[in-house]
Amino acid sequence: MSARLLDGREIARSLAPALRARIAKLTRPPGLAVIRVGEDPASEVYVGKKHERAARLGFHQQSLHLPAETPEAHLLQLIASLNDDDLIDGILVQLPLPPHVDAARVLAAIDPAKDVDGFHVVNSGRLARGLPSLVPCTPLGVLRMLEVAGLPLRGLEAVVVGRSNIVGRPMAMLLEQADATVTVAHSRTRDLQAHVGRAELLVVAIGRAEAIPGAWVRPGAIVIDVGVNRLADGRLVGDVEAGPAQERATALTPVPGGVGPMTIAMLMENTVTSAERRQGPRS
Ligand code: GUN
Repeated sequence: MSARLLDGREIARSLAPALRARIAKLTRPPGLAVIRVGEDPASEVYVGKKHERAARLGFHQQSLHLPAETPEAHLLQLIASLNDDDLIDGILVQLPLPPHVDAARVLAAIDPAKDVDGFHVVNSGRLARGLPSLVPCTPLGVLRMLEVAGLPLRGLEAVVVGRSNIVGRPMAMLLEQADATVTVAHSRTRDLQAHVGRAELLVVAIGRAEAIPGAWVRPGAIVIDVGVNRLADGRLVGDVEAGPAQERATALTPVPGGVGPMTIAMLMENTVTSAERRQGPRS
């Protein structure tokens, strides 16, 4: 068996016409502010992609790149002014932040209605309760990808490896709400191989290159690889050993070109959703 590759670029492109139609109904362009602090090279690439996509959709944008030594108080002031800016619908603070900044305090300062990353505790809490919220972009992108690919989740044995607030935790909540039976495995899980081997849907988000051997994958499984890791030789690989996994799985996300483009697409959707809620549709 060779797995069907779930092409995130193509799926993201297929969502664009519906999003453009929603944007056309707004009274003004959606506004997105992205704050980056310091010189993390991966963040620079990710933020560049977010701006490029937003520009193509005609968003109003503010790009704020601050030096690594920026005091936390300055960052909090900046967020307060963006919270008050009526032209801004979405505020995103790219992580990681420098060590002298308390990331939790910074994220808590963002108006939950403009929290297009879905990292504010109000949005996490609303997601946990199944209430309307802004949902973190990567897990939302995974869900959307499975939906577009026609892979139903009801009753599926799903295993999420990783319990971060950005991916693993919200992913588990979304899958449970989509009627999958969900296990969350993590760095302290005993016999990870046994859990992975049971998964009909395996989502891996631990950020360690090829940490899950392909031979562990259950034959016929759907494998979603959220990891993007650069090896010493410059190659990008996921958290799952792709070659052997592809032989066993029925569907698999490639790295790069799998989950990554979906994350960007969901950021655009979240910003439009926020703009719709804040502006109200025309007429
Ligand atoms: N760093 C890694 N992933 C993300 C993300 O989805 N959003 C933000 N803001 N920072 C990140």
